[in-house]
Amino acid sequence: MNNILVTGGCGFIGSNFVRYLLEESDFSGRVVNVDLLTYAGNMENLADIEKAFPDRYAFVRADICDREHMAELFDEYDIDTVCHFAAESHVDRSIVRPDAFIRTNITGTFNLLELCKDSEDRLALFHHISTDEVYGSLGEKGLFTEDTPYRPNSPYSASKAASDHLVRAYHKTYGLPVTISNCSNNYGPYQFPEKLIPLMILNALEEKALPVYGDGRNIRDWLYVRDHCIAIWTIMKQGQRGETYNVGGDCEMENIAVVEMICDILDELKKSPDGRPRRALITFVKDRPGHDRRYGIDFTKLKQALGWMPEESFESGLRKTIQWYLNNRDWVDRVRSGEYRAWIKTQYGRSWSDPSTPG
Ligand code: NAD
Ligand code: DAU
Repeated sequence: MNNILVTGGCGFIGSNFVRYLLEESDFSGRVVNVDLLTYAGNMENLADIEKAFPDRYAFVRADICDREHMAELFDEYDIDTVCHFAAESHVDRSIVRPDAFIRTNITGTFNLLELCKDSEDRLALFHHISTDEVYGSLGEKGLFTEDTPYRPNSPYSASKAASDHLVRAYHKTYGLPVTISNCSNNYGPYQFPEKLIPLMILNALEEKALPVYGDGRNIRDWLYVRDHCIAIWTIMKQGQRGETYNVGGDCEMENIAVVEMICDILDELKKSPDGRPRRALITFVKDRPGHDRRYGIDFTKLKQALGWMPEESFESGLRKTIQWYLNNRDWVDRVRSGEYRAWIKTQYGRSWSDPSTPG
């Protein structure tokens, strides 16, 4: 693996991964970050990396659905490895308008697989980043294993399931060297404030209502994003080609407990102006349609075969995350106001209209 194409590297997990790869890991080659810069892509997330690694990091704005452009990039950068994050990632958006999910998550992945097939002689690996949501919802007992049947319940998870199947099929049919990781809910720095944890942190800071869906008893298995990045790199280096690995935090929490913890940590770090406990802001709202009740990951395979374990506890990871959002109010303000798109212009002398719903 010398020239890694990272797709979606300006998003939440992708930008954390590029940072981890260049700043912390033993990788010594070059990273080419290809991102369409939808509403979820923010070049500012890697501005320091671009400066620190001018010879080892390149950014190209491109759409993974544009096969011709992607083919040019494969050749220009002599790509031998793909780490594929690019996706529409937010379940609520997929319920309202699924089109972009079908396009990017399915067609985009298909395009990349075709290009990998065409450059098979130099391809070391196609690593596909996926989600535990493909397995559907758990009852009170049991965990998702790699053998759990796929039962996706939202347009988002159905589109990710389709992409997983394509990746697996390209290994079986064409012998493409692939690995797949199915991970639980991530949290940490640079997460777009539409997802539960950053949304609650920022609303709580601004004394706004904290909208908890349904009865708040839905369960997610939380993993600090850096631990996910370490898992991905471990699988890329040592994972058996053609295999799937589940990644999880061993940290099942009811949503209401997560929100209460955020309130309590914030009360401790930064008292509300009137001294009122932030738990008072919690508001139960209409449930998400098709809302999966419980996710829980069995990552025994990754632990036993490759020796990966999460390092961060939820309490310490959540504190770090809250502190990051407190310390990075400028980033937050630019993202919330939409000004981050103008920021791109000041840095790069050009701007792009929001392409989150192309075509
Ligand atoms: P994100 O929404 O923060 O980032 C997605 C990135 O993909 C953005 O930078 C966006 O601009 C880019 N993108 C979208 N469409 C594109 C296209 N057509 N061409 C090129 N780039 C495009 O998402 P995230 O939360 O960082 O998730 C990254 C990946 O990890 C996704 O595949 C997601 O399914 C998966 N995943 C996420 C989580 C989680 O908790 N966030 C958990 C498990 C798996
Ligand atoms: O499990 C992995 C998945 O985790 C990833 O594949 C997705 O890309 C990622 O978005 C995430 O999906 P979720 O739907 O679980 O994450 P979200 O942050 O949207 O919601 C987490 C839980 O909190 C879920 O049960 C819905 C609930 N929720 C969410 C929001 C945004 C609320 O109660 N209120 C909210 O305002």
